[in-house]
Amino acid sequence: MKFLAITNVFLTVLFPSALGAHFRFTNVKCKSLDPEFSEVKECFLKMVQRNVVGINFHVAIKYSQPINKVEFNLSIFRKSNMYRLFWVNHTIDFCYYMRKPQQYPIFYMFHDSLMAATNANHTCPYTEKDIYVKRMTFNDKTVKDLLSFLPDGEYKLVVSVGAFGVWRLQVNVFGVRD
Ligand SMILES: *[C@@H]1O[C@H](CO)[C@@H](O)[C@H](O)[C@H]1NC(C)=O
Ligand SMILES: *[C@@H]1O[C@H](CO)[C@@H](O)[C@H](O)[C@H]1NC(C)=O
Ligand SMILES: *[C@@H]1O[C@H](CO)[C@@H](O)[C@H](O)[C@H]1NC(C)=O
Repeated sequence: MKFLAITNVFLTVLFPSALGAHFRFTNVKCKSLDPEFSEVKECFLKMVQRNVVGINFHVAIKYSQPINKVEFNLSIFRKSNMYRLFWVNHTIDFCYYMRKPQQYPIFYMFHDSLMAATNANHTCPYTEKDIYVKRMTFNDKTVKDLLSFLPDGEYKLVVSVGAFGVWRLQVNVFGVRD
């Protein structure tokens, strides 16, 4: 955490968020890494209001038991000819995270934005047969926090979700900060 705090300060000084800067989604791709465990039914961007696009996806869970061990991994890539890892490549124990989300400041940046849009908005176990994210946008806090780390450019946020130690799902969110 100490390292992250220092990185945070460093990046904030290096890339102060400019007034009026935006982060907008340009594409989303979802992929099941284990079709026997989870199946992607829907995955698309849709306008939620003028100039604001929201992320939508629906994943059907085929596993019959409650899921009480979830791994969640975030990597942020920035494009310069190709996408290169720009910041973070961390995996967290998502069940622990949901009990104490503030302990993970990087993931917590996205917390309210994600929780407002998904039915996976509670602590483990997950017994839902369908997990949804509907019309997810980054709220003002997420944008403000995120932009303090990201210079202008094209980004790819890769979220991998595992259950019981096996990667099951990957969501790639493409966006532009300008
Ligand atoms: C992320 O970290 C893992 C484990 O340290 C490593 O295997 C993987 O290559 C890293 N991913 C990227 C894109 O660098
Ligand atoms: C993040 O998830 C990917 C699977 O999509 C994995 O290859 C990588 O090692 C993970 N990174 C870390 C730090 O565990
Ligand atoms: C979680 O999401 C469900 C379905 O969208 C909703 O009915 C419920 O009120 C939400 N719970 C919390 C604590 O936000």
